[in-house]
Amino acid sequence: MALSSHLLDRGHAALYVLSQRLVGADLARRECLEALDLRPGDRVLDIGCGPAYYFDRLPAVDYHGFDTDRRHIAAARARHGDRARFYDEPFGELHARALAPFDRVLMLGLLHHVDDEVASSLLSLVARSLRPSGRVITLDTALWEGQSSLARLIAKNDRGDYIRPPQAFRRLASQSFGRIEERFVGDTLRMPASHFMMILESPRVA
Ligand SMILES: C[S@@+](CC[C@H](N)C(=O)[O-])C[C@H]1O[C@@H](n2cnc3c(N)ncnc32)[C@H](O)[C@@H]1O
Repeated sequence: MALSSHLLDRGHAALYVLSQRLVGADLARRECLEALDLRPGDRVLDIGCGPAYYFDRLPAVDYHGFDTDRRHIAAARARHGDRARFYDEPFGELHARALAPFDRVLMLGLLHHVDDEVASSLLSLVARSLRPSGRVITLDTALWEGQSSLARLIAKNDRGDYIRPPQAFRRLASQSFGRIEERFVGDTLRMPASHFMMILESPRVA
């Protein structure tokens, strides 16, 4: 019984990783990890970490991954649980109190799965959990003028219910961060999906 549920968790995670690789979303993650600019020993929060399939690309950091999908977290724990901590629950105030401050925060593929209210309170909590010198990377499927028709098709088939234009992601982030750098990632032959990345710094804390 335990073995079959373990295999199901791994299958669920493997299917997710394969779908990411097919549309080039994995390459977009590489760009995000580069922009994160990690140093060994950094305290890292990854919200919506999924199976954390990119974990082996990180230097030795103090990593905390959160996801509401129990199977993703089970797969992440099975693979990386000896070097990182995984939580199958949303990141909330109590976690922030116990675990902050963080040097770096990843929110890869998360904000387009949550409504404005959740996105806004999550970004505010992240800002309050970040060191003043810290950095947050967000990456989301987005729709904007001038995208190729293939990129738009991929975006429209994304499972996220809140695929926004870049300015809507920026507006949400600007409530909690004073400095926002933006990048458009993908929409090439190697990386047909296109994503909107934000590098957030200067957390606003009331
Ligand atoms: C597109 S996946 C991204 C996974 C991983 N970050 C990556 O880049 O491969 C989005 C993940 O966010 C998780 N998620 C959605 N809403 C969440 C929330 N409020 N808190 C934590 N995780 C959430 C989903 O379960 C899903 O695993």
